[in-house]
Amino acid sequence: MTSRKIEPLSPVITEELAKKLVSYYNTPFFVYSQTLLEQQADKALSFPNAYGLTVRYAMKANSNRNILKIFLNKGIHFDASSGYEAWRAIYSGIPPNKILLTSQQPECTEKDGMYVCSLTLEDLIKRGVNFNACSLNQLERYGNLFPNSEVSLRINPGIGSGHSNKTNTGGPSSSFGIWHEQIYEALKLAKKYSLQIIRLHTHIGSGHDPKVWEKVALMSLNSGKKFLDAGHDLRILNLGGGYKVARVNHEKSTDLQECGEAVKQSFINFAAETGRELHLEIEPGTFLVANQGCLITKIIDVKSTPKYNFIIVDSGMTENTRPSLYGAQHPITIIPQDKTKRKIKKYIVSGHECESGSIWTTAKNDPKSLEPRELLEAKIGDLLVVGGTGAYCSSMSTKNYNSFPEAAEILISKKRKPKMIRIRQTLEQMMENERDIL
Ligand code: LLP
Repeated sequence: MTSRKIEPLSPVITEELAKKLVSYYNTPFFVYSQTLLEQQADKALSFPNAYGLTVRYAMKANSNRNILKIFLNKGIHFDASSGYEAWRAIYSGIPPNKILLTSQQPECTEKDGMYVCSLTLEDLIKRGVNFNACSLNQLERYGNLFPNSEVSLRINPGIGSGHSNKTNTGGPSSSFGIWHEQIYEALKLAKKYSLQIIRLHTHIGSGHDPKVWEKVALMSLNSGKKFLDAGHDLRILNLGGGYKVARVNHEKSTDLQECGEAVKQSFINFAAETGRELHLEIEPGTFLVANQGCLITKIIDVKSTPKYNFIIVDSGMTENTRPSLYGAQHPITIIPQDKTKRKIKKYIVSGHECESGSIWTTAKNDPKSLEPRELLEAKIGDLLVVGGTGAYCSSMSTKNYNSFPEAAEILISKKRKPKMIRIRQTLEQMMENERDIL
């Protein structure tokens, strides 16, 4: 059991603002900072590149349309991971030609009970969404629908890297993309349907080792030569997202400038060799939003066993499932609601669900082990703030388990005004698709 320093409060909020928000809104709720989101967008947009850059926001990280619009206004494009996500982006006001669809299931379900919707993959592409074929079968389906057109390919380069083996998306254990040794079969299909391969894409995992990413960039450039040799008008190399972001003190973020510079030189060498100046695309999700959001919860109980002290909060996997899934580390800070002097104590922070796996203080990369954290002595009614929850929390929770309603989302505008960008779900909304048959 390691002892850890108390983490500072998330940069998204101050104690004063948290208390003020709690006087208006029910906990739990997410808070995001427009200023921090825009600052992060600027950092991504200054990623080193030799011949032009497009930053695509991986919208699965947080799909609230206000966040999409903040990035759109910054000149950022979008990565959608399902046909539904692409439609959601379009309904949010994102121009279709700024969306790249990279998905295991790009098709939407056309028939859903009595409701027949027209959200087909074909419609999406006709509207201008860019399609990234992630398997030979997808390429064949696309070729059938749109022969004599341009398309891009996601390649599994044979190696991957992630913050946990659950987020590694390259190598033989990963089903994402076309296996690199099957490139020639992809070329045959492209020929059959007169398709031009204009973009190659890899995403090796979330929280990857930058050295592995650099190596894969070189491997992708080498694959690019095969497409140029076969007469394809390859113009873009998309190197995915997955840049490591430190959420707690003992983690280290990837330096985008550093890893980008190394790859920039590879693009220059490639152009010298082939005469082709490739445009670079990157697809950060976590990098753009993780530390730009926090979750505000209330302590609803404090108890102990001979082994542990427990804090119970009015949230859990219903808002942040990452610790239970990956042993992900999020900074946790208590804001006392009274002025009594507090000691430091070690706690396990437990969620409100009837689910023993709902624990926020799991050991790093080991969701099965509990690791007590040093926190201010807790009292019922105190606030407990979880930092680093802008990415893959609101969009990837076990919401509605135990019928807890989906939490609200609040954006602190550039003028420091809190704006509600998603209201808390009602019980009626939770049940609205159920039908009485008895
Ligand atoms: N591009 C593609 C094709 C992806 O599949 C992903 C993430 C990204 C970009 C963005 O990766 P990021 O920059 O956010 O690491 N739920 C996990 C992360 C899995 C994301 C899956 N794909 C987490 O909470 O860390």
